[in-house]
Amino acid sequence: MSKEYNITLIPGDGIGPEVTEAAVHVIEAAGVNVNWEVVEAGEKVIEKYGTPLPDYVLNSIEKNKIALKGPITTPVGKGFRSVNVALRQKFNLYANVRPIKTYKGIKSRYDNVDLVIVRENTEDLYAGIEHKIGDYAAESIKIITKDASEKIAKFAFDLAKNEGRKKVTAVHKANIMKFSDGLFLNTVREVSKNYEEIEFEDVIVDAMSMKLVQTPENYDVLVMPNLYGDILSDMGAGLVGGLGVVPGGNIGKDIAVFESVHGSAPDIAGKGIANPLATILSSVMMLRYIGENEAAEKIDAAIAKVLEEGSKLTVDLGGSASTKEFTEEVIKKLK
Ligand code: NAI
Repeated sequence: MSKEYNITLIPGDGIGPEVTEAAVHVIEAAGVNVNWEVVEAGEKVIEKYGTPLPDYVLNSIEKNKIALKGPITTPVGKGFRSVNVALRQKFNLYANVRPIKTYKGIKSRYDNVDLVIVRENTEDLYAGIEHKIGDYAAESIKIITKDASEKIAKFAFDLAKNEGRKKVTAVHKANIMKFSDGLFLNTVREVSKNYEEIEFEDVIVDAMSMKLVQTPENYDVLVMPNLYGDILSDMGAGLVGGLGVVPGGNIGKDIAVFESVHGSAPDIAGKGIANPLATILSSVMMLRYIGENEAAEKIDAAIAKVLEEGSKLTVDLGGSASTKEFTEEVIKKLK
């Protein structure tokens, strides 16, 4: 009898339930024995519980230590703080890992992107410390600490080492924010000295944006504070076929929450056409995290086949397959 895992499943808002259902089916078809503890969060529970993030969600994650999460809608400029940010802060999920990779069969201007964005996930302007100054101004405070910078730097270099990657690039704006980004950069530079086998460089975030568009193949592991990581992740998605393609993991000391980079996509929710690939790939990252490497490889190989054949691509990738048709094709290839 194979090992059984208890994993929290948060279907989320918008396309969340559709894409997480797809990932659950694929994991099941790969033969991994998961007892999913399904907990609702987001818009649909606000009325009942007065919060989009009720305690039962936090308790479930705390107990199981691992979660697969669909996207959750955050109202803009008013109402509740982001559930996503709250979760990352609550469990100190300090590393947000987002592999950006080209797949044969997915149209993009590039054919050889293979980089990982490692985004600091708990501080920077996302610490949520902001206030109004009368009606005429508002202030958001950008916090960068040595401790968090050191942790994310070590994480990035360890990831490079474990995955056989050659270079870590620190992305920052230390020329302008000399104290905050200066501290981040100096800390990453210090940490880099313990990893002599890995090349280290730093690039200012605006220049990085240009270079990523011009020569993404030159980059391997990118480590950066929260805000730049958020922005460059979506840009990275644009390099390899869009938001439907890029997975992610929020990783802490002993708790991890896996989710795609994309949001709840209200424009296509409920239509059955969302691309589940990013969430399936996030669940593959999760399988590797729990040590189910064989199942992860199998799913990766099945996905590569489906993409290369190209007959069951979803609408965002230029095809006409539904969420279900794509998922069923991946499952067919698994068998
Ligand atoms: P979004 O990522 O939801 O959508 C941007 C565009 O990409 C839309 O046109 C959408 O249809 C398309 N898209 C996204 N995922 C797709 C998929 N799997 N398949 C096909 N097309 C896809 O970004 P948006 O509209 O800015 O955010 C919507 C909501 O999601 C907001 O409330 C935002 O705060 C929230 N959000 C939540 C995240 C999370 O839970 N981790 C992450 C990002 C946004």
